[in-house]
Order: sequence, then structure tokens, then C-alpha cells
Amino acid sequence: MKRRTFLRLSSIVATYFLGANSANAKTTKPTNKIEYLPLIIPPLLEGVKIKNIYHYNLTIQKAKHKFFDNKLTDTYAINGTYLAPTIKLIDGQNVSINYTNKLEETTTMHGHGMHLPADMDGGPHQKIKPNRSWSAKYKVNQRACTNWYHPHAEGITAKHVYKGLAGFIIVEDKNSQSLDLPKEYGIDDIPLVLQDRFFDTKAQLYYRPNMMQIMMGYRGNIFVTNGVLNPYVSVSAKEIRFRLLNGSNSTVYDLAFNDHRKFKQIATDNSFLEKPVTINSLLLSPGERAEIIVDLTNSFDSYLYLYDTRQRKPFLKIEVNKKPNKKTTTPKRLTYLDRYSLKQVTNTRRFTLSMRMRGVYINNKQMDMKRIDEIVPLNQVEIWEVENKKMMMMGMEHNFHIHGTYFTILERNGSAKNVLENEKGYKDTVYLAPGDKVKLMIKMIDYKSKLNPYMYHCHFLEHEDAGMMGQFLVV
Ligand code: C2O
Ligand code: CU
Ligand code: CU
Repeated sequence: MKRRTFLRLSSIVATYFLGANSANAKTTKPTNKIEYLPLIIPPLLEGVKIKNIYHYNLTIQKAKHKFFDNKLTDTYAINGTYLAPTIKLIDGQNVSINYTNKLEETTTMHGHGMHLPADMDGGPHQKIKPNRSWSAKYKVNQRACTNWYHPHAEGITAKHVYKGLAGFIIVEDKNSQSLDLPKEYGIDDIPLVLQDRFFDTKAQLYYRPNMMQIMMGYRGNIFVTNGVLNPYVSVSAKEIRFRLLNGSNSTVYDLAFNDHRKFKQIATDNSFLEKPVTINSLLLSPGERAEIIVDLTNSFDSYLYLYDTRQRKPFLKIEVNKKPNKKTTTPKRLTYLDRYSLKQVTNTRRFTLSMRMRGVYINNKQMDMKRIDEIVPLNQVEIWEVENKKMMMMGMEHNFHIHGTYFTILERNGSAKNVLENEKGYKDTVYLAPGDKVKLMIKMIDYKSKLNPYMYHCHFLEHEDAGMMGQFLVV
């Protein structure tokens, strides 16, 4: 049994496909000789409590990161040299997340998945100029989930994320704290930012999308996991929880273990699933998160890979070489979710994602910072229908992300049966294959403003920057 596994995984490791759009780039190519390096776990940032508020201090800076043995790579990072510290928040806490921009250019910092007032959202309007600071101050007001923060400045989000700006925000609540799940950060509860990158021959990040790559998505030829090229992690023979974030610009991953073992998905973007859903592969589009539990109890003294079945390349080697001192048993019931009823729906909005020769559009429009596209009443249940329209039989993948609150997926392609079991938690980003149509149920709650809009957009960052975004006010 095991032998066969190893054969298969060595063929996976050896099979390096170059990204389809690498033709014009002079880049460092991955080699077949692989030296595995320890996975970096983004450090947890302790909040500083002043009066009743937890302060988190973050500096956005230029840095040099060691992706390769002999050369340093110029990056952007928060506090460290690539990516950012993890911020762990607890429901009900008052926080002030303070960003200081030490770059030579303006950026913003958005709390993706955070339920907060629009002026604390860190979208394209909350600019942080060089040498200035900006704080997201709010009361944490949502269920346990895995969120993230990243720049959102108009037209340059993709470049800033590519350079290395992204970090986790983990939200915990009473329920998540009480469940018998792996919870030791970095030990059996492991966050993974999955990315792909091009490096030029000088080991520098190569980000120069041409028109074709803007349309088709900019895909790198090298996988990077938490800022490491060929990472391994060593774990105990027990249940291990991974918090997966697709932090790549435009690449959709279909994640699996190389031995095709089953695993459980326990959470979607914004909540636990009500019950764990057993799967053996998981589609994750840019911006989406999933928490999974893989049971390695019987895998002591072996190793396996988390890999992408689409490109057949690994993200992480998992070495099971420690005896556990504590075990968990994932409960059969994780949470109860609130669902609105169809009778409450007061309005339906339609969003058509489309491409033409020279661009990508939502409802035939491109982002205009001065235009409000939708006005959404507070506390009203709505249906948002999103269609990824094909043009002359041609299609491309997109997704659709909404700021400010979560939604649930009611239907895909005309039927509730097409909504997968593991899409039934709270979501903030939904994947749409070419031609797909989804019906989302959404209710904007708690925060309104006549001045400050939230965004909705495709989270393929080249598309977003090319204008595939709109703004809405909640009133
Ligand atoms: Cu993760 Cu509007 O973004
Ligand atoms: Cu967002
Ligand atoms: Cu798109």
C-alpha cells in the first residue's frame, strides 16, 4: 500500500509544469532536485491592551526574503520579510489594528471577511500614504473563522499582494474555543497561504502581466507556501487542522493529498460548516479559505503531500514523525447556522461577469471610484444573482467577493442540488466556472453609511485591478 503511494508522489514531485503563460518571461525554473525546507509559520502577533482596546501594530515595509539558498529577493512585507504576522481576535473584543506605511507608495489594508463598518474596511478609499498610519478600529462581531488582510489600493492590489503583503486574521468565539478540535497554533492548527510566483533569473519576483495574462490570470510557475518554496512540516500522528488560504493572484487550486486520502472540511470562509464534510479534494479560488482536518493517527513514520491536482505540484510535504501527547476527535456537530427564509427576500440584484476583447466587466461597467453602483438597504434579505457569462462559447473562471458581511449560496445553475455540501457554510467569496450562475442570499447588518461604500468584485486580482469591481452603500 505504502509503496504505491511513494511511487505516485515521486511522480508528482517530478512533474513540474510551467505555467501556461510563462512563455515570454525569463524566469527561474524549478528544478527536479528538491531540498525541502522547514515551513515558516507566520508569528502570532500579541495585542497590546490599553484600557479596553487591543492594539496590533503593523509596519508595511520593504524587505528582503530568503526564497533561495544563495540570493535574497526584494519583497514587501508586514513586520517580517514576507507576508505578515497572524492576528488572532476573539468575538466581542475591541481592537485597533494600526498600520504604518513605510513603503514609497500609497497602499491600503483590507480585512477580508471581517464584519465591520465600511470606513474601517480598508478598501480603496482608506488610503495609507507613505509614512502615514491608519487604524482599523472596531468591535469584533462575527463567528469564528479564518480571514485575512491584504492591500486593496486602486489598480495596484495585485502587485502589492504579489510582492508579499498578506496575513491571517483568525477569529475565535466561545463555540470554537469549546470544540474538541486541534487548536495549537503552528503545531496541529496550521495556517497555509498558498501562492504561485515567477522569479526572474536574479531571483526577484517577476510581475509584469501582459494583456493576455491580465485576461487569463497571472499564474506563476513556482508554488510558494507561507513564503517557502519546497516546505515540509513535521507533525504528530493525530488529527491535524489546516487553515487554507488561496492567496494567489489568479490561480484556482484543487487541493488533495497525494494518497487520495479522505479528509474533513470543517469551515468555509466565514463560519464552521454545521457538520464536517468528508471529501478527497477541495477547490479553492483566490481569496477563499477552508479549514480542513486530516487524520494522521495511523500514518506514524510516513509522509504525504498536500498538492494541487490541476497542476500536479505539491504545496507541502507533511512528515508524520511525532507521537502525540494529546488527541482530538472532531465533533459530528460543529455549529448551527442562521439561515434566512425565501419569504423574507425583498429584492433581487443581478451581476453579470463578462469579458470582451479588451477587458473584464461587471454589468458592462468597470470600477469607478466616484460611482456608487448599488444602494442596499440595511437589514433586508436580498438575493444576488451572479452569472459568469460566456462570450461566443469562450469562457474563463471568475469568482465573486462581497465586503462587509457573509452570504450563503442558495443555488448553482438553477438548482439547490448543485450547491456542494462543503459550500454550505457562510461565504464571502464564491467560485464561478465559465457559464456558472449562482444565487446568493445576503443581508447587510449592523453598519450603514451614506458616505463610505463597500466593494464587490472578482478576486482574481488582475481582473479586480482591471476594473472588475463595483461599490455599494448600505443605508
Ligand atoms: Cu480580499 Cu475586496 O478583497
Ligand atoms: Cu474583502
Ligand atoms: Cu475574474
